[in-house]
Amino acid sequence: MRATRTLAGLQSKEHFLRSRILNRDQKFFDMYSLVIGVLALFALGIYVGVSKLSNMTQGIYTTDTAEYQAAIADRIRPVGQVYLPGEEASAGHPQVAAASPAQPVATVLSGPQVYNEACLMCHGTGIGGAPTLENKESWVPRIAQGNDTLYLHALEGFAGQSGFMPPRGARMDLSDDEVKSAVDYMVGQAGN
Ligand code: HEC
Repeated sequence: MRATRTLAGLQSKEHFLRSRILNRDQKFFDMYSLVIGVLALFALGIYVGVSKLSNMTQGIYTTDTAEYQAAIADRIRPVGQVYLPGEEASAGHPQVAAASPAQPVATVLSGPQVYNEACLMCHGTGIGGAPTLENKESWVPRIAQGNDTLYLHALEGFAGQSGFMPPRGARMDLSDDEVKSAVDYMVGQAGN
């Protein structure tokens, strides 16, 4: 009986102490929240006040001046500038005259030169059925057609019995006269 009472007494004492501790914690928390809240409000007030003040002073007296804006523009200016043809660089920028590209001298290749450059690879070896200059018999019927036909076949291309002759030997940069002089050279070699 006594022991039970003592236990009950102990329990109620513990409960009392525990609730006191909880009470104190709650009070501390309330105070803490209040202080934090006041500090936050204070900081917000400072921030708003200062930004208002800086808008009223800085904006008008510093950042809007022409010198300040010019200094910013100068700091963030790109390293290089692009001028399209026809656009002139403003005075003060160094002007460089465009170098005129070197033009090759116009030349006319001789018959043998054209032959070496454009015809030899087929007509020297007989590739694709091309009649070689050594094979004189194969040239007899060709030469018999007359120079105009040979010129035409060399210029326009020709597909006959033995293969395909590409127009101008696939060298479209050759002039008519150059191709013709190559034909003359070939006929001269093969016809003798
Ligand atoms: C890709 C090879 C090739 C090249 C390059 C080539 N020829 Fe030919 N050529 C031929 C072949 C193949 C024939 C024969 C076609 C046939 O008779 O079937 C031929 C035939 C000819 C003939 C005879 C045409 C005829 O009527 O019988 C002449 C002329 C001729 N070539 C001139 C030239 C000249 C000039 C060049 C250089 C500018 C040249 N060829 C470059 C392949 C070539």
